[in-house]
Amino acid sequence: MGSATTPIAEMSDRRAAVALFSRLRTAEGQADPFPSYAELRARGGVTPAPWGGYLVTSFDLCDRLLRSPDWLEPDRAWRRRQGLGTRWNAPSAREISATLPALNPPEHTRVRRVAGGFDRGTVQRLEPTVRRLVDGLLDTLSERLRDGRADFVATVSEELPVATVGYWLGLPSTDWPRLRELTHEQVFTQELLPTASQLARSDAAMAELRAYFHDLIRHRRTHLGDDPVSRWIRTWDATEPDREKADEGVYFLSLFVLLAALETTSTLLSTMTLLLTEHPAWWSRLAADPDLIPAFVEEVLRYDPPIHVISRVAARDLPLEAHRVRADEMVHLLIGAAHRDPAKHLSPDEFDPGRRTAHLAFSSGIHYCLGAPLARMEAQTLLRRLVERLPRLTLARRPARAPRVAFRRLSNLDLALA
Ligand code: HEM
Repeated sequence: MGSATTPIAEMSDRRAAVALFSRLRTAEGQADPFPSYAELRARGGVTPAPWGGYLVTSFDLCDRLLRSPDWLEPDRAWRRRQGLGTRWNAPSAREISATLPALNPPEHTRVRRVAGGFDRGTVQRLEPTVRRLVDGLLDTLSERLRDGRADFVATVSEELPVATVGYWLGLPSTDWPRLRELTHEQVFTQELLPTASQLARSDAAMAELRAYFHDLIRHRRTHLGDDPVSRWIRTWDATEPDREKADEGVYFLSLFVLLAALETTSTLLSTMTLLLTEHPAWWSRLAADPDLIPAFVEEVLRYDPPIHVISRVAARDLPLEAHRVRADEMVHLLIGAAHRDPAKHLSPDEFDPGRRTAHLAFSSGIHYCLGAPLARMEAQTLLRRLVERLPRLTLARRPARAPRVAFRRLSNLDLALA
């Protein structure tokens, strides 16, 4: 391990980080990881990770690394170099390695161009559908609340993203529940430290998703329309004469959009609603002044983003604060911790939608999230209708969370009328 700090200091840092990570993986740690992040930050903006590589908690460093061409995505070639028996070469990990966020330039530049972005027009066209979906879901929520408590996760936040993306990609609604389950199962392969059994669940989910999208693309080829999958087929066909390769390109784009869009947006919607119940004065403030809604959503993304860890690898031997990172070594950018960096934000542990929020929830640099405008529109639409239509809601019991470190997920959010 290359480092300008002494080996003894590194060993002590790594031992301290082991204890912190054990805590982060408990129910307490998942409910509130921020004290552990603060302890980590107290050891410096960069600390050695227990399993090798480094953990970065400084906001400015995270931002700088995300924008720098010296820090790469762990791509297919990097994964091969880690050895066939490692988690990086599990079948589900190999599948992820061909998707957009695992590519580096020049391949990334080419595929990102094909993927296209969510321009304002796309989001505007989807907005009436999202509004209709939100109103239908809030009707169900209201009915359930009349009987006592209702689970916001099962009723609203798990439903809206799959219905939005399912509608946009043209996926039959009968498939949505299974697709949603599969996206929860596959996420372990992208987690920080997956166990062998979690990886096996990801492998099974990914095999089913591959079969699903290949069938879908075969069918879509004979029913081309104006949907994104049809558009990706046309674009790939225009540049790739080999039909099989073109279909693989379309598959990896469709797969990743589904994986990227569902859980992350659900977590944003759940966290936003949880924070609203914890800060009840905001219910009437937002209802009275809907112009405050976008800032509220941005502060949710800073305060507790859906993804707490983004990883990169060093393109060559590189200095990182007092450390020397060797080529191919991994750095974990602890976005959740960076968002509470006092060097960046005043009183960072305070939830304050009035602040000028800067955050890295959607990453930064060339991999900046393509779906950010859609996720924001879903969250803002839901929040607007929630405070307009419903009287104040309160937490009926403490929510449970999935056992993850990087990808946050509330498994329930039981609410009642206040
Ligand atoms: C709150 C919801 C969301 C969050 C927090 C989120 C977060 C992220 C992050 C952190 C990255 C970059 C990963 C990296 O730098 O390695 C990313 C990339 C991406 N996201 Fe999102 N995302 C969200 C919603 C969506 C949605 C709704 C879609 C699509 C409909 C989407 C599509 C993508 C795609 C295609 C990429 C890859 C971009 C690239 O590598 O060039 N995301 N997202």
